[in-house]
Amino acid sequence: MSIISTDISKAVKLLSNEDLVAIPTETVYGLAGNIYSEKAIKAIFETKQRPLFNPLIVHIPSVEYLETIVEDIPKKAQLLADAFWPGPITLVLKKKATIPDLITAGKDTVAMRMPNHPVTLKLLSELDFPLAAPSANPFNRISPTTAQHVENYFKDAIKMVLEGGSCERGIESTIIGFENGEPIIYRLGSTSIEAIEEVVGKIEIKNKKEVAPDAPGMLERHYAPTTKTILTGNLIDSIEAHKNLRIGLLTYNDFLDDDVIDFKIVLSEHNNLEEAASKLYDALHQLDKQELDIIIAEKLPDYGLGKSINDRLLRASKS
Ligand code: TXA
Ligand code: MG
Repeated sequence: MSIISTDISKAVKLLSNEDLVAIPTETVYGLAGNIYSEKAIKAIFETKQRPLFNPLIVHIPSVEYLETIVEDIPKKAQLLADAFWPGPITLVLKKKATIPDLITAGKDTVAMRMPNHPVTLKLLSELDFPLAAPSANPFNRISPTTAQHVENYFKDAIKMVLEGGSCERGIESTIIGFENGEPIIYRLGSTSIEAIEEVVGKIEIKNKKEVAPDAPGMLERHYAPTTKTILTGNLIDSIEAHKNLRIGLLTYNDFLDDDVIDFKIVLSEHNNLEEAASKLYDALHQLDKQELDIIIAEKLPDYGLGKSINDRLLRASKS
């Protein structure tokens, strides 16, 4: 029997009872639990097989709710929350003592965001606690952008996936930390650097392993299909080099037909980076099901969401 359901009151009951529910957001589906329930939070780590030292993102119902989670709000953090919430920006700020250490992996900072999805906003408004929710995939695997993706991963492990359709944005939130009140990008994501800089000015990027070696989104291999994947700036040469294998192709826009290709997905016929981002993970899920020898992914333009997509494809291609 399917665990996918549109019943928000059932989700409220399960979550209030310290169970897990997978929830839709505009970025990817999350595996959610009550931040104050040790049982639920431990179950999140176990279900995902995620190391305990990797902190979780707290999902809150409003901008004002920030005050109940964090000690103080730097001016530029407030500007970003006002500009982008509800939406795909996660802020990492100094936590209040009431936020359990299990969520933050013992750090004195907490990551949080107000997601922009009507179903999950309704759910959050009916709960009297916020939800910790990492992406609803086993550690290091491709993030889910449909309820079906989550069910495929966790059918036997959780009781419910709250149906919310296909995720509109399709890649995770952009994570922003603060040093001396100045914002720093910790993870590229669904909100482009250009859009962020319009609000807070020039921003530094530390989307690197050395900044947060314990952050799974920063690990070298992540968001990965089980099929060997390569990222290339030169499709023709890469296809030629692997022409004796069963090749799956992931391209940005349309690409001349080639009979050595066994399976092909075009991310955006009209060169639209937002569209490409929204289709990325579903494309990887589909390619991974085709019993291919290799997935050859084309590098996207290196600006806007192209930068975030390239970041994910690069990590997917690390062995
Ligand atoms: O779009 C998203 O952000 C999705 C949806 C479900 O909201 N969530 C998501 O969660 O991508 P997850 O757990 O897959 O990635 C959370 C990232 C990790 O890289 C984690 O290390 C980082 O956030 N993080 C959490 N708390 C942190 C902290 N206090 N300092 C630095 N990084 C933190
Ligand atoms: Mg994740």
